[in-house]
Amino acid sequence: MTQHKISLTRYLVEQQRADGHIPGQLRLLLEVVARACKSISQAVNKGDLGGVLGTAESENVQGEVQKKLDIIANEVLIEANEWGGHLAAMASEEMDSIYVVPNRYPQGEYLLLFDPLDGSSNIDVNVSIGTIFSVLKKPEDHPGVQEADFLQAGAKQVAAGYCIYGPQTTLVLTVGDGVAMFTLDREQGSFVLTKENIQIPADTKEFAINMSNMRHWDAPVKRYIDECLAGSEGPRGKDFNMRWIASMVTDVHRILMRGGIFLYPWDKREPGKPGKLRLMYEANPMSWLVEQAGGMATNGRERILDIAPGKLHERVSVMLGSKNEVERVTRYHDPL
Ligand code: AHG
Ligand code: MN
Ligand code: MN
Ligand code: MN
Repeated sequence: MTQHKISLTRYLVEQQRADGHIPGQLRLLLEVVARACKSISQAVNKGDLGGVLGTAESENVQGEVQKKLDIIANEVLIEANEWGGHLAAMASEEMDSIYVVPNRYPQGEYLLLFDPLDGSSNIDVNVSIGTIFSVLKKPEDHPGVQEADFLQAGAKQVAAGYCIYGPQTTLVLTVGDGVAMFTLDREQGSFVLTKENIQIPADTKEFAINMSNMRHWDAPVKRYIDECLAGSEGPRGKDFNMRWIASMVTDVHRILMRGGIFLYPWDKREPGKPGKLRLMYEANPMSWLVEQAGGMATNGRERILDIAPGKLHERVSVMLGSKNEVERVTRYHDPL
């Protein structure tokens, strides 16, 4: 690593200077999100000592029972971001509708979307969890802000990232200029650049999917996984390994670090629903990070970043990671 530690602040200042594609407001926004993640990380670390584990007595708009940390992380992100003047509104997996910045604060030009706590089923068992975020620019053609302003394709994101609360607290970020990773230095209290230009190898021998849903999968996904499972005697001619953490943030992080393919496909249990994962809070930011690292992300038929969202809490089938594998499983699907 470099001799002089580069903090997140310095990285963002240098990004702003180098090509000017991080305007001041966006730089502030990313600093504030990072600060909020630090605070969530503190809460996660305290665990039982801080009374943050366990379930709250509420359900979110997704029909999921909320964990205390889902709610805490959501509140931390809102409180940190509402007063700085960089945002017009926020949207979250844990809120029914958009949160417009109260008019006692100045309105900024950005929209922030987040999955405040990804991997909720892992909270109480001390397994890595995280926060996923995505930033869009508010359309300039009208005053005020409304839900429709958020319904932009993922390709329009101006920043995306996640923070993992695991053995280390790690922030991974793209502003459209590759993917950089920062590790929280708890003594300094700041994120320090620890990897730049992260690249996902095009080939892999590792897949991630919830195998318990196999009987519900569609034929192309079943074929793809069957071929992986057949190993060196099958058509792929190589043995595959499987990993499933059940925190998308951590499964995707592993793929950014060493390659692999992650699938959460549509399945037959819910014919009306296009998948489990959320397009705006999970699939879009992760797909952009993966593409920025040389990988690929589709819903089996089209590039996730090209999907025009119909609603805020839209769900989507997700296949992302090492390019040649995502290309293969996408090829197995019929074209639209
Ligand atoms: P969240 O905790 O934000 O609701 O998201 C959980 C998601 C994702 O992180 C993970 O990949 C998937 O749900 C796990 O699903 P299974 O329980 O089916 O394994
Ligand atoms: Mn959830
Ligand atoms: Mn999630
Ligand atoms: Mn969540």
